[in-house]
Amino acid sequence: MPEVDLSVTLAGVRLKNPIVPVSGTFGFGEEYGQFFDLEALGGLCVKGLTLHPRNGNPPPRIAETPMGMLNSVGLQNPGVDAFIARELPRLQALDTAVIANISGNTPAEYGQMCEKLSQAGVDMIEVNVSCPNVKAGGLAYGTRPELCAEVTREAKAHAGRTPVMVKLSPNVTDIVTIAKSAADAGADALSLINTLRGMRIDPETRRPILRMNTGGLSGPAVLPVALRMVWEVHSAVDLPILGMGGVATARDAVEMLLAGATAVGMGSAIFADPMAPVKAVEGLENWCESHGIAAVRELTGGVKPWEN
Ligand SMILES: Cc1cc2nc3c(=O)[nH]c(=O)nc-3n(C[C@H](O)[C@H](O)[C@H](O)COP(=O)(O)O)c2cc1C
Repeated sequence: MPEVDLSVTLAGVRLKNPIVPVSGTFGFGEEYGQFFDLEALGGLCVKGLTLHPRNGNPPPRIAETPMGMLNSVGLQNPGVDAFIARELPRLQALDTAVIANISGNTPAEYGQMCEKLSQAGVDMIEVNVSCPNVKAGGLAYGTRPELCAEVTREAKAHAGRTPVMVKLSPNVTDIVTIAKSAADAGADALSLINTLRGMRIDPETRRPILRMNTGGLSGPAVLPVALRMVWEVHSAVDLPILGMGGVATARDAVEMLLAGATAVGMGSAIFADPMAPVKAVEGLENWCESHGIAAVRELTGGVKPWEN
């Protein structure tokens, strides 16, 4: 059988395979270069950037949960200018797509960052309107359709030819409404899901384990929620989707593609096994081969839902 074509196109950007480490779980890629060749990845999405440097939230900011983790990192990052000067050249030298993830306090800040990143030549900009761990901006923009649309318009107006992907929150009653607001405002792609708001408590001290009291849940526990939301959005909105949330194996990735994703993000799984994304690429190829699938893109949206 001829080789499986693993390549996909996400908002006009060609990825050599659909597997992308997601924002906040892969830093700027440097540490993981010790474990595997970063060029094996379809793309990589860098830690969330803000206009100015941020120290993030006080510790503890990570808590384990059954089948997942809670985090309240709070967008610790060196700021967009430092990223462009110190990190981006190394990433751009790699033969893989570079996706910059941004968060702003105001729509204008999103616009400013888009202008800088577009001029610096990143392959795609992921607009995070869904961070549950910051006070300003973040989640507020991702839970109200009119604000999500405003941020999307501002991002598009300043991103030049760079595709803009809006990252949606699962912390909403109806994710389709928010997805449509981003689509109508000109988004080129959508990514989902960000983390689900959660909490753990130490019964002895009666203190929340996270210093910020609450955090965002990710990892295998959230996969069914992510699949359901990707499926709903894919069914209602005509934009390509980077599907993420709980994907740990090639089989999970196949489910995410069938639900409607064009490409698949992996995050928390990388903390458990740094090789997880490379194993997923290999596993996906084997799965396609053994199921007579010539091109992985054939799987997108291929779920056969029951008629009820
Ligand atoms: C420690 C940590 C930090 C994160 N930081 C960001 C971030 O800076 N920007 C962002 O958009 N999402 C961030 N996320 C959310 C992930 O990108 C992803 O949407 C979420 O974890 C679900 O995927 P997973 O279950 O594969 O981890 C973070 C997640 C974790 C666990």
